[in-house]
Amino acid sequence: MPTVKVRMGEVILISIDPCQKFNPEKTILWRGSVLRKAMGLALSEAEKGLGKVSPNPMVGAVIIKDKKIVGKAFHKRFGGLHAEAELIESLPEKIIKNATLVVNLEPCSHYGKTPPCSLLIADKGIKKVVISTKDPNPLVSGKGIRCLEDRGIHVVKGICREEALELNRGFFFAQIKGRPFITIKYAQTIDGRIAFPGKRRYRISNSISRIYTHTLRKYHDAILVGIETVLTDDPLLNVRYIDGVSPLKVVLDSGLRIPPESRLIRNEEKGKVIIFTSKRTGKRKIEELIKLNIRVEQIDEQNGKLSLFQVAAKLKKSGINSILVEGGARVITSFIEDDLYDDLEICISPKILGAGIRATTDHFNAPLRDENQMRLLTMKSISNDVWLHYRRIKTIDIMEKI
Ligand SMILES: NC(=O)c1ccc[n+]([C@@H]2O[C@H](COP(=O)([O-])OP(=O)(O)OC[C@H]3O[C@@H](n4cnc5c(N)ncnc54)[C@H](OP(=O)(O)O)[C@@H]3O)[C@@H](O)[C@H]2O)c1
Repeated sequence: MPTVKVRMGEVILISIDPCQKFNPEKTILWRGSVLRKAMGLALSEAEKGLGKVSPNPMVGAVIIKDKKIVGKAFHKRFGGLHAEAELIESLPEKIIKNATLVVNLEPCSHYGKTPPCSLLIADKGIKKVVISTKDPNPLVSGKGIRCLEDRGIHVVKGICREEALELNRGFFFAQIKGRPFITIKYAQTIDGRIAFPGKRRYRISNSISRIYTHTLRKYHDAILVGIETVLTDDPLLNVRYIDGVSPLKVVLDSGLRIPPESRLIRNEEKGKVIIFTSKRTGKRKIEELIKLNIRVEQIDEQNGKLSLFQVAAKLKKSGINSILVEGGARVITSFIEDDLYDDLEICISPKILGAGIRATTDHFNAPLRDENQMRLLTMKSISNDVWLHYRRIKTIDIMEKI
């Protein structure tokens, strides 16, 4: 449960971290055991790699010797040393010998950008390894555990498994499903409107909710919007108000209507904007944007719209494990119709517009299928707004098999 504080009849959420399930302090308080405490610490170390290691998973490691935590480390950047190697190299050999290593992901067993961690662990004389989950990467998947066990190392599995899955849900999901984990997020009034009709800018959620939105952004690799949202709101789509790395910004724009003076293009951080457009779009427009450092990808259309399957596939190929779809209505509708979504983050704000755009369009074609069923994961009150976080049952099923 999130931490709540009641002030003058108003419920205010203090912890607005969307990954609060793995909050290490709570892990320690709630569960008590030494291994859980150590894994809570490993998870909080892992999270320091947020925004820096993707498409690699965030991994943290802790060494326990004589019932004391004597060292901790995390995977710092994509292509850099893995957390286990970083930690082992930072401590004297006599401390490592016969120690217990606690790490939130199965140590690797293959030669990639770095040599296999499971061999290093065995060579250094570690006697016990505690992990949260197996690594679903087919190059590892169980082989790291086997490599350790074959060398006489005791492996304890499944400690803080749920928290570890949640932290790296994009990585796990993309490995298994071959597409990024997709969260649809929108703010609506209590009469179900996400915007005024026509091109009129209007902010639905309150200022504290906005901080939560930016927290959500920093937990995703990419933010995606439709061109009408860019034309109406001129958004920046970056992480503000809090510390964090801004994700890749993605726009769906079949005819390249995006104005060169839009804030997304003017404030572009090198290589941080991708515009998907139709194969019919003229070269001149594309070249103009490329000159402004914008990546433009031409893809196929399906029923007169850009193919979201190709968008998801191209983003996955570019190392994107998670996408936050921030609207507007036509884009949200398309993602739901194409069955390309896992989580919904819905903010309901106590405003009434009377008229305006709804989250899904009138000609919404979402079949009533069992697989659309969702489970409510959290319900938060952020000042006067209510946030509902749902997950598809079929996504939960996929995660449970890991
Ligand atoms: N309250 C909120 O949370 C929230 C969030 C975001 C936006 N909004 C509001 O929503 C409104 C805009 O929503 P909207 O529905 O008019 O437009 P939108 O969803 O932002 O953009 C739709 C446009 O994107 C392009 N597109 C390309 N491929 C697509 C695909 N596969 N599926 C859907 N669209 C695709 C199409 O234009 P082309 O054919 O030209 O490519 C389409 O007309 C604005 O008023 C904005 O303020 C509210």
